[in-house]
Amino acid sequence: MDVLLSAERIQARVGELARQIAEDYHGQPLTIVGVLTGSLIFLADLVRRLDLPLRIGLLQASSYRGAVTAPGELRVGPDLVPDVRGRHVLLLDDILDTGQTLAPLVRHLRDLGPLSVRVAVLLRKVGRQTVVLEPDYFGFDIPNAFVVGYGLDYNDEYRNLPYLAVLPTAGAAEAARDTR
Ligand code: XMP
Repeated sequence: MDVLLSAERIQARVGELARQIAEDYHGQPLTIVGVLTGSLIFLADLVRRLDLPLRIGLLQASSYRGAVTAPGELRVGPDLVPDVRGRHVLLLDDILDTGQTLAPLVRHLRDLGPLSVRVAVLLRKVGRQTVVLEPDYFGFDIPNAFVVGYGLDYNDEYRNLPYLAVLPTAGAAEAARDTR
C-alpha cells in the first residue's frame, strides 16, 4: 500500500495539535470524547501529550454506506460519556469526510449541557463535506481516497498500522459497511 502519511509526520502533527489545544484551554478542565473505534489511536496519542485536567469519554456511532458517496442513517449507540455539565468538551474523530457523522454528534453533546463543544479531527477529506462543519482542530487535509491505518480500518483490519496508507481497492472499501 502507498504510504500517505508516515508515522513520524503523524506524531509530529499530533504534538502540534496538543500544544495548540493546551494553549487554547489554558488549564481549564476538559472532557475529550472519542468516536469509536477509529479515533482510539489518535485519542491515546493526543491525551498523553495534554497537560490539562482531563476526562475521557467514548461514544459509538455507525452508519450504513450502501454506495460510494451516500452515507446512510446515523445511529448513536449507548455512550460512555461522563457528566459534561459545566465542562468544556472536545469531540475527537479520525476523519471528517461528509460531516454527516460529526454534525449530529455535536448536537447530541450540546444537549448534555457542557460549557462548550469543539471538534478535532486528524484528517479532513478535501471537497467531500456535505454538512457545514468547520473542525476547530485538524491534522491534515487529504485527497479523496480510502485510507487505512492509525485507527482507520477496512473490515476492521489495518487499524494498528502506525502510518496512514491508501487502500488500493478504494471503491470496494467505501461500499462496505462502515465499522468505525
Ligand atoms: P462522514 O462522511 O460522516 O464520515 O464524515 C466519517 C466516518 O466515515 C469513515 N470514513 C473512513 N474510514 N477510511 C476509513 O477507514 C476512509 O478513508 C474513510 N472515510 C470516511 C470513518 O469511520 C469516519 O469516522
